[in-house]
Amino acid sequence: MRESYFRARRIRGNETMRRMVRETSLSVDDLVYPLFSAFGSGIMKEISSMPGIYQQSIEHLVEECREVQGLGIPAVLLFGIPESKDGVGSDAYSDSGIIQETIRAIKREVPGLTVITDVCLCEYTDHGHCGVIEDGDVDNDATLELLAKEALSHVRAGADMVAPSDMMDGRVAAIREALDNSGFSSVPVMSYAVKYASGYYGPFREAAESTPQFGDRRSYQMDPANRREALREASADIDEGADIIMVKPGLPYLDILRDLRNSCNLPLAVYNVSGEYSMVKAAAANGWIDEERVVLETMLGFKRAGADIIITYHAKDVARWLGRN
Ligand code: PBG
Ligand code: ZN
Repeated sequence: MRESYFRARRIRGNETMRRMVRETSLSVDDLVYPLFSAFGSGIMKEISSMPGIYQQSIEHLVEECREVQGLGIPAVLLFGIPESKDGVGSDAYSDSGIIQETIRAIKREVPGLTVITDVCLCEYTDHGHCGVIEDGDVDNDATLELLAKEALSHVRAGADMVAPSDMMDGRVAAIREALDNSGFSSVPVMSYAVKYASGYYGPFREAAESTPQFGDRRSYQMDPANRREALREASADIDEGADIIMVKPGLPYLDILRDLRNSCNLPLAVYNVSGEYSMVKAAAANGWIDEERVVLETMLGFKRAGADIIITYHAKDVARWLGRN
């Protein structure tokens, strides 16, 4: 009697066979590309820890949007670097704020591109926290009002979808209500529902100039040790009307992505954050890894874990690599 008739290698022998039994696929349709819009003109400043990623003024950013659309990437995610900051993040919800102007410019020049906006206050407050400060900590309910105003002003300027990243409790409901009351009941909310307090955001804070000036974000972002809590965060946001749920960062939290895939039926997004990008870029620049291979393998990992949408600074490269085949 033979030990086993099973030979895994029978269906691995050539690329055609491998194609036929492949379980997961990656497409340009899955990608979202983040962009940093800086106040002023003629600005094109590379983020030192994120090669290939720039703070740029609107005219340059619009040019990159054209390129993004040409590559077939469906959407961008916008972050703003305002002219000035204050205690309550006024530029975030000003009709002439940096993001509002950027949305209008993209919608005018590249109308087919989907514009998603990050809704948070940390890029606009002088203290760098994601909400307003009361007694040394971020005040949840006072912040909700401002986030709702911010989301509404993005949508009024033409945003196709808003993505709150602040981690205040009740923000999805507050935003949903503000949009519905102003005739925008058809605009979806992609919630950063499961967002961990992570060291991987380091390079982003250089890019967005949003490092907290005191303390850290642990009183509102999640503890990396927690898994069940992710399910609670997601179900709260679903109850409040979120249309898409996000997990962030990506690579250290693939188990969470899979948990959510198994327990909820909404589309799932994953944010392959700045630190994840920087590590790959640094290793590739040193010739230590094959960048294309590693990045595509990473993207496939997100899809396999359960992501429908991948927000990644590698999006343009991925689109080019996929397009070549
Ligand atoms: C703002 C925000 C952050 C990121 C997205 N939105 C930073 C933070 O919470 O400190 C991180 C994105 C990245 O690292 O690429 N709240
Ligand atoms: Zn924030």
